[in-house]
Amino acid sequence: MNRIRVGLLGIGTVGAGTFTVLKRNQEEISRRAGHEITITVVADLDTNRARSIVGDDVEVVADAQQVVTRDDVDVVIELIGGYGIAKTLVLAAIEAGKHVVTANKALLAVHGTEIFAAAARKGVIVAYEAAVAGGIPIIKALREGLVANRIDWVAGIVNGTTNFILSEMRDKGLDFGTVLKEAQRLGYAEADPTFDIEGIDAAHKTALMSAIAFGIPVQFDKAHIEGITKLERIDIQYAEQLGYRIKLLGIAKRADKGIELRVHPSLVPTRRLIASVEGAMNAVVVHGDALGTTLYYGAGAGSEPTASAVIADLVDIARLQGADPAHYTPVLGFQSASLNAAQN
Ligand code: HSE
Repeated sequence: MNRIRVGLLGIGTVGAGTFTVLKRNQEEISRRAGHEITITVVADLDTNRARSIVGDDVEVVADAQQVVTRDDVDVVIELIGGYGIAKTLVLAAIEAGKHVVTANKALLAVHGTEIFAAAARKGVIVAYEAAVAGGIPIIKALREGLVANRIDWVAGIVNGTTNFILSEMRDKGLDFGTVLKEAQRLGYAEADPTFDIEGIDAAHKTALMSAIAFGIPVQFDKAHIEGITKLERIDIQYAEQLGYRIKLLGIAKRADKGIELRVHPSLVPTRRLIASVEGAMNAVVVHGDALGTTLYYGAGAGSEPTASAVIADLVDIARLQGADPAHYTPVLGFQSASLNAAQN
């Protein structure tokens, strides 16, 4: 079995989840990928913390720059976040001919055009399932599952922190600041939570979804953005009395003059499925001309849910490296697993 060697940049919440899930499910993941996927090196400024997570089997370095050009790294996973060093590293990895997996929605929403163009020039993949709606495979759904459809609109709860805040304010009567601190403690919120509560993170994700759905460049700068900071508990209560739930929605839809992109608190009738999405969960509704409406629901933030999407991208990349076609057929994969088990 061929190997895919991974350089992991940043081992915070999602990085640790990625390491843990890869290790725990290594056999199944490798079988499904048709390649043995191993993390060769982890780069993190806090080398002690990194070492405490990965143990002694994996090399730990502080200098991420040297990882992206190493010969023993085939794929770089960027989990540093932000636009600064992350951009330099992603572009350097692409330049060095490495595939990149990233959860960095801010980077792609703002610099996606430049990054995707660089990747196209070098013939490498930049995969970003984890950048939108955490573990929900919405990028794959838009890119592959719905490929036959003309997409009319996409609307979703794509920020777990704000959905968690709105749910807790309504159910427990807690104030905004207390719930935000809890969201930070649980690892849902961004390093700068302004991105969450002002709707910027949701706009990053909606811009990425709209680029795939409508085949347009990533246009975060064109989005209308309004967060939840002006909402009070009384607004939530009044909405409930009138039969609505307030949700921060990211909406991208075809309009007369092009694609409309907006994020704002919205009144959703409580009878709609999406109104019942609580806590840090996310949900995206897509309307396509052939399939009609579909709803994608799941964990939108957190360590292992987001890791699930990071690893899905790794597997996709591995499969594109000439793996045995049988690995694309889940039934065959499972049959061979049970045969092996029976022989043991
Ligand atoms: N801060 C983000 C959220 C993390 O709350 O949804 C996942 O992208």
